[in-house]
Amino acid sequence: MPPFRPEEHLASRVNRFVESAILRMSAKARALRAEGADVIMLTLGEPDFDTPEHIRKAACAAMEAGHTHYAPIPGLPELRAAIAEKLNRENGIAAREEEIVVTNGAKQAIANAILSVVDEGDEVILPAPYWVAYDGIIRLAGGRPVVLPGSFESGWRLSARQIASALTERSRLLIINTPCNPSGTVASPTELQAIANIVRAHPDLMVLSDEIYEYIVFDDARHISIAALPGMKARTITVNGFSKGFAMTGWRLGYAAAAAPIARAMVKMQGAITAGANAFVQKAAVTALKGSREAVEAMRQTYQQRRDEVMARLETLPLVRAHRPEGTFYVLLDISMLLARARDDLPKDDVTFCDWLLEHHHLALTPGSAFGVPGSVRISFATSQELLDAGLNRLAAAIEAYVQA
Ligand SMILES: Cc1ncc(COP(=O)(O)O)c(C=O)c1O
Repeated sequence: MPPFRPEEHLASRVNRFVESAILRMSAKARALRAEGADVIMLTLGEPDFDTPEHIRKAACAAMEAGHTHYAPIPGLPELRAAIAEKLNRENGIAAREEEIVVTNGAKQAIANAILSVVDEGDEVILPAPYWVAYDGIIRLAGGRPVVLPGSFESGWRLSARQIASALTERSRLLIINTPCNPSGTVASPTELQAIANIVRAHPDLMVLSDEIYEYIVFDDARHISIAALPGMKARTITVNGFSKGFAMTGWRLGYAAAAAPIARAMVKMQGAITAGANAFVQKAAVTALKGSREAVEAMRQTYQQRRDEVMARLETLPLVRAHRPEGTFYVLLDISMLLARARDDLPKDDVTFCDWLLEHHHLALTPGSAFGVPGSVRISFATSQELLDAGLNRLAAAIEAYVQA
């Protein structure tokens, strides 16, 4: 018998999607660092703040009190009730406890949702720019992502007209993400109203609304949940979590709210895959929702200050332009004019530009292609002002080197 080759025995679904470019760039940056290079990473979508103390203490107390056993698969009743109450009070969604599924991060909520409503060959409408992970999960479910190109000129805004023209009888799900990773755009009431009108007119279409950045909005932007609009609750799966607003990425806690039959299907999926979220983390999440929001607001203010400083600096750089984010901790920088002016020996697309930037200027950014918007790069400002300043200095030097004769 020939030697057994494990790599030849992988299921075909492993190859249905590619590894996240964010993780690839971060891994490359870490490898360079391990070799001793002084690399600045503006790639990760992770708050640089620690989880607020009262939430950490609540987790320790819950662990000491013996909450170290399996929790019910849909989540602790106390947390599901607190989430339902939060959705009613803050989002205007008339959610009930049985409509809430607590998950291992928003990412699992998204996976549960897509696996529950998308069948082989179903179309999922994905307005670009979009968070990279949706594409992989859609493909795992056997669905077909239908990407709608976005534009810098429109401020990367959702276009109801574009969505309407992409719909077919196989359309099952529209994914919206507001505030949006990576553009920082926050959908306006008028935009959401127009989208809701289109969704309601389709016999089979539902919405997955990813609202994980809801607490990170700037100036007078206001986060609105599409499920709160008339007739939309039954058709919407609202996804949210604790990672971003409460700086709880490592805790792995998120949730979804959907009509009871869909919530039950998501619980079934979760029961088959992870059996649900950690018990003492769920107890701490009740404290996060019900306790003081001072720390959440302080972090929001810091992100807003950084946004202002980053934008002021980016505006001084030639051949690039950035849309001013209304929320999140990302800026999407359009570099298409810069790429068009590249020296002959230098890369001419965003992916190879990011590789070059990392290798030659030790700055890690994420290529826009990963979000369906080639010709751009994403800068994360979830990092200290000093590192941001140093990173932007390197970007300025890189731009100068890139176009010199
Ligand atoms: C738009 C969006 N949704 C969901 C997630 C995942 O969040 P979680 O850490 O709760 O799984 C992220 C994380 O980067 C994100 O950017």
